[in-house]
Amino acid sequence: TLPRQVRLVEVGPRDGLQNEQQPISVADKIALVDALSAAGVSSIEVGSFVSPRWVPQMAGSAEVFAGIERHAGVRYTALTPNMQGFDAAASAGADEVAVFAAASEAFSQRNINCSISESLKRFEPIMTAAKTAGLPVRGYISCVLGCPYEGTVSPAQVAAVAAELHAMGCYEVSLGDTIGTGTAGDTRHLIEQVSRQVPRDRLAGHFHDTYGQAIANIYASLLEGVSVFDSSIAGLGGCPYAKGASGNVASEDVLYLLHGLGISTGIDLPALAAAGGHISEVLQRPNGSRVGRALLNK
Ligand code: HMG
Ligand code: MG
Repeated sequence: TLPRQVRLVEVGPRDGLQNEQQPISVADKIALVDALSAAGVSSIEVGSFVSPRWVPQMAGSAEVFAGIERHAGVRYTALTPNMQGFDAAASAGADEVAVFAAASEAFSQRNINCSISESLKRFEPIMTAAKTAGLPVRGYISCVLGCPYEGTVSPAQVAAVAAELHAMGCYEVSLGDTIGTGTAGDTRHLIEQVSRQVPRDRLAGHFHDTYGQAIANIYASLLEGVSVFDSSIAGLGGCPYAKGASGNVASEDVLYLLHGLGISTGIDLPALAAAGGHISEVLQRPNGSRVGRALLNK
């Protein structure tokens, strides 16, 4: 049976914009976050507190946090790779932080400049500090269905990293198909394996849509009992350390799928589509959501 309710984690302002080469003003980023919360999105990844040399576009994240209009019941979250990032996120007023690991050693090195086990050690003080500060911590794993450098990644390896993140206190583990090569069959198998280590209601799906499989993979995940998905408004994005990886699955498309299944999300699709149309115009690029395009061109 399918879940009756799904929580969408909107990652557009972070995953969607982090790879954007053109400068995007803090005001435009704030307007995007505010439009998302007004549409009813309850979890919004506002930015990341990483090295500006590695990801220049996220350098203004503290200013974005300072400028947004906080809606009651909305969690405004941020990525934090180390204590320096955690301290900055906490000062900026993040409601929740996320640590990010990988299931492949090569990707871990390229993305955060350390091995998987070093990254997990680096996260320990974050877990402690977050507990003291009363902030929930989410854990990401990249390359769960393939790595741009190593190719195949075994579900057992993903399960091992997921188990560690969960054991150290991450309330949820988001499984990232960074390069979007996964298929529905792979996805079901992966969740079946990982759920032996981490309960299904503690897992989230994070699908990039490079191969056009993300919606199918979300449906496969729903069938496996997963009820939290990360998505990006207008399908924005890509990872700077995964060449050729396209954006996350578009939030509008996921919403259309879910509402069609009678699953509630609390999000207003026309309002979300309008927000997607607006940010696409700001970035001067075609709207990456099929549903968004269809609704806006009606
Ligand atoms: P490093 O160079 O090994 O760090 O980078 P370091 O500790 O040696 O410090 C070097 C310099 O960076 C120092 O500055 C630090 O102050 C500075 P200097 O003294 O040379 O002037 N620094 C920082 N500055 C600001 N904020 C910080 C910070 N930490 C150090 N937090 C590091 C290691 C992790 C910092 C770096 O590799 C990094 O920032 N990586 C982030 C990469 C990233 O953001 N990738 C995209 C997000 S992950 C993703 O997209 C995948 C996901 O969507 C899931 C999926 O799709 O798979 C989540
Ligand atoms: Mg991603």
